[in-house]
Amino acid sequence: MHACHDPYLADHGCVSEIIWDEIAEEIEKRERSILHARIERAQTYYGVVLASGGDFIMDVLDAIKSRKSVRRYLDKSIEKEKLIAVLEAGRLAPSASNRQEWRFVIVRDRETRRKLAEAADEQTFVGEAPVVIVACAETDGHIMKCGQPCYPIDVAIALDHITLAAIELGLGTCWIGAFDEKRVKEILGIPEEIRVVELMPLGYPSDPSIVKKERLSLDTIVKYEHW
Ligand SMILES: Cc1cc2nc3c(=O)[nH]c(=O)nc-3n(C[C@H](O)[C@H](O)[C@H](O)COP(=O)(O)O)c2cc1C
Repeated sequence: MHACHDPYLADHGCVSEIIWDEIAEEIEKRERSILHARIERAQTYYGVVLASGGDFIMDVLDAIKSRKSVRRYLDKSIEKEKLIAVLEAGRLAPSASNRQEWRFVIVRDRETRRKLAEAADEQTFVGEAPVVIVACAETDGHIMKCGQPCYPIDVAIALDHITLAAIELGLGTCWIGAFDEKRVKEILGIPEEIRVVELMPLGYPSDPSIVKKERLSLDTIVKYEHW
């Protein structure tokens, strides 16, 4: 049992002790079953929706909650429309001064995927996905006023859009930061001046179930008004 830390409830006069764990558990149980139903609907429905340009049927929060790192994929290729839809989600991402420095190499060839997996610290599952997105930046290395380079941030935003769009289409992804950039460049003939920011396998997950996320609490990561 925890004291009430929620500033909204504190402002609006909450009971001093609230059984947060029980409430959270109950919400999670309910949300998970709703999510499962929505995902099933999306998976059976999406082909039609995509073809007709109809409404989206999963909202962003649902996609965020169901995204997970997928490290086992079905040996099943991805429909071209789905691949394009996922890449389009990346294309529409925001970037610093709208620089759009992201470039994506789409690798479907089995042997090339195997080589990429080798370059990714021998993480064989990377090559088992039918597609590996190699997220690059064609960048002048611009540093923003805040002191941060913008290209890794911008490429990461585009990739995050991709992960969420993939979920809506019944696909899974995994961020891959453990790779040898030089080796990846050699395999794909990527020019010297281009940076490789991340690899991202994309495919149908062999286990599409939703898993509980291990995350720090809001109390730990959020501070209100000052540090
Ligand atoms: C920038 C970045 C790099 C990552 N690199 C790898 C990687 O090389 N191999 C891997 O298996 N997972 C990698 N991950 C996945 C994380 O381990 C994973 O996102 C985290 O444990 C949370 O789990 P979830 O994605 O299932 O929610 C990476 C994630 C991020 C965001």
